[in-house]
Amino acid sequence: MVSRVIPVEPFELVIFGGTGDLARRKVLPGLFRRFCAGQMPKDARVIGSARTELDRNGFRKMVADSIKEFGGKELASQAELPEFLECLDYVATDARGDKGWAELSAMVRKELVNAFYFSVAPSLFGDIAERLKRHDLADDTSRIVVEKPFGRDLASAEELNATLAKHFKEKQIYRIDHYLGKETVQNLMALRFGNVMFEPLWNGKYIDHIQITVAETVAVGSRGAYYDKSGAMRDMVQNHLMQLLCLIAMEPPAQFAPDAVRDEKLKVIRALQPVQPHEIVRGQYEAKDGQPGYREEAENPRSFTESFIAMKTHISNFRWAGVPFYLRTGKRMATRASEIAVVFKALPHSIFEDNEPDRNVLSIQLQPNEGITMDMTIKEPGPGGMRLVNVPLDMTFAEALGPDAEEVPDAYERLIMDVIRGNQTLFMRGDEVEAAWTWTDPIIEGWTARNDVPKPYEPGSMGPLDAHALMRRDDRNWREVKG
Ligand code: BG6
Repeated sequence: MVSRVIPVEPFELVIFGGTGDLARRKVLPGLFRRFCAGQMPKDARVIGSARTELDRNGFRKMVADSIKEFGGKELASQAELPEFLECLDYVATDARGDKGWAELSAMVRKELVNAFYFSVAPSLFGDIAERLKRHDLADDTSRIVVEKPFGRDLASAEELNATLAKHFKEKQIYRIDHYLGKETVQNLMALRFGNVMFEPLWNGKYIDHIQITVAETVAVGSRGAYYDKSGAMRDMVQNHLMQLLCLIAMEPPAQFAPDAVRDEKLKVIRALQPVQPHEIVRGQYEAKDGQPGYREEAENPRSFTESFIAMKTHISNFRWAGVPFYLRTGKRMATRASEIAVVFKALPHSIFEDNEPDRNVLSIQLQPNEGITMDMTIKEPGPGGMRLVNVPLDMTFAEALGPDAEEVPDAYERLIMDVIRGNQTLFMRGDEVEAAWTWTDPIIEGWTARNDVPKPYEPGSMGPLDAHALMRRDDRNWREVKG
């Protein structure tokens, strides 16, 4: 197979929080995969930095162990591993003190693309940004990468944006939402804007409703304490589901360019209608078969935080007037599966008397089996008259594209390479994040004001019964998503 991988320019990537969970699980194994694919050049360097006292060799060993633990045996046994480890270095720094900064500044080759990954608590963003400037580590060409949670409400997001803006221009700030790096999410844009047949149908005249489901089987586990301050609304809806909604609903941008795309996404968020209390169902998973329930994991027996949410919202614009968007996400659900389903309207008139055709459904599966299917009505083959059946036109990538499909990089890998390439298209702009909180805040404030208690649900189910009632009230049903 001919490799289509284009190497990026040599770079220096400094990861603050370089010994942390995200770096070990995602960022470092991801960089190694890009190295093996020939995309990360051999003269690029990744410098880990954290408070932990480690030397270069200690860091290299930690990375090798992380690759084995989180990247799998096959990745860890790649012949390129020693060469990759050669590209790693480490400097211990104190984000709030002076330790290590001069050494780091002396190490970084300023003539290369410089990127600084803030894989640390947002409360340290300001301190690190300020020290990067004070120690001449960053200039107008440097890039910084920040992770969610980007604020916990509008006020804190504005404050974070203002803190970063003191030191960096918007074009230097890469706010990661890893859902935007998922292959199928990008394919959504290819599908909508690279094919002539969807655009004329992509509106309230032909689309009945849209469902977005991000179901997880995992529990909150050891993240209970963090999660309890966040909940599904802040952890998933305000960012990941919102981004999916934007891509499905936005107007065609004039170009596939960062601000053209982000301007259109922003318009969608700003056009979201406020959600009414009866349009939301919150849930909390119960204990089952010796497995702890949400409140035990959160170590908060009176917790009112939701581990599941289902809601209906509308976008007030010409294209989407009258089309409901149903969103749901949760932990400990029946299956791990994420899907966006575009459910088309019924035919205005059926010519088949005893045989009503089903509605067309375009389903975009984000994970685990990435692909797109379109449910179509055809005649059942063979004799017996005009019997109709519903069959999917299937574009599961692994099947449609053969071995090439296996090369799909993980979301983080792709996004880090985009940082080095200087392409912000798949990153959130500051105003987008603020607009998302503007919509989210009143919903959360409403729960607090009403002392809203989430409904219990059985682990392994698809959420509380009320989530189904939310749909049935509208004479619709959630689709069965398959893992
Ligand atoms: C993270 C959330 O942003 O996304 C987690 O904090 C969640 O709670 C995760 O489990 C889901 O990501 P993915 O890629 O596994 O769907």
